[in-house]
Amino acid sequence: MGARPLIIDCDPGQDDAIALLMAIASAEEFELLGITAVAGNVPLAKTEANARRVRDLAGRPELPVYAGCPRPMVRAPVTAEAVHGPSGIDGADLPEPSRPAEETHAVDFLVQAHAEASRPVTLATLGPLTNVALAIIKNPSILDNVAEIVAMGGAIGLGNVIPAAEFNIYADPHAAHVVFEAGVPLTMVGLDVTRQAIATPARIEAIRSLETTPARAVCGMLEYYGARTTAAYRHGPPLHDPCVIAYLLKPELFEWRDMHVAIELAGEHSLGRTVCDVYGRSGAPNARVLEHVDADGFFALLSERLARLPASAQ
Ligand code: BDR
Ligand code: CA
Repeated sequence: MGARPLIIDCDPGQDDAIALLMAIASAEEFELLGITAVAGNVPLAKTEANARRVRDLAGRPELPVYAGCPRPMVRAPVTAEAVHGPSGIDGADLPEPSRPAEETHAVDFLVQAHAEASRPVTLATLGPLTNVALAIIKNPSILDNVAEIVAMGGAIGLGNVIPAAEFNIYADPHAAHVVFEAGVPLTMVGLDVTRQAIATPARIEAIRSLETTPARAVCGMLEYYGARTTAAYRHGPPLHDPCVIAYLLKPELFEWRDMHVAIELAGEHSLGRTVCDVYGRSGAPNARVLEHVDADGFFALLSERLARLPASAQ
């Protein structure tokens, strides 16, 4: 079959950036059709420029980056500079991108890419689901050519941005509702599993020992992001978004259950909660929900992929 066609929708974000590097380093497994950016951790102008910086860092300046939606569908925008820094990828210290974003809007690219692809496309989503939801609304027939959607977002247990909800779902719950109800194979990579992928000091040192420009940028980002998450994670920062790529590369590192997941759209204290029907009370499963990761296996895979990138791309 060869490499599977893949589009990554993201809001870089240090952990998005690391996920992008991991995916770009996996050319045997992924035919990366494009990277779409959405407003999330920081505003759209920064997330799309960060995606372009990261693609340059990975030695792939020709990879197309498409800017998408600058705000969520209904709710007021919410960003996360307190965690990711004013640029979104503080700690990486990357130069200006080598070339501009594509002129096509990310939503139009998503529609067009699905229409033109000769094989069903896998969507890896690392941010709020605004672009993907609007592509589905604009042209529902794209769903016929989606292989699967693997989305970082949600939690069976506690949230992070508010006690009840995870950031990517909270930042655009209405978009998440559209995607979760779309009827395509969907894997939820939520906080239950990503909180197990902790970049401990020893794991960061293992990445540093690669002694490449991308590895140094990754360590800088992890140190910045780690310093801002110590209140919640004493042993190091969680690598949320790279779990999506790791699952696509090596699902055997993960354990999961299938269940119905509803998105809370009205709760005073629970907007954006992923209501996970663990005990099968409310209907047919619409999602595969990851619950456990072999964290050592995950970090071994991350280091192995980072080692494949050009040592000094810039
Ligand atoms: C998610 O929100 C962002 O802060 C991260 O990039 C990740 O996608 C974790 O809740
Ligand atoms: Ca993200």
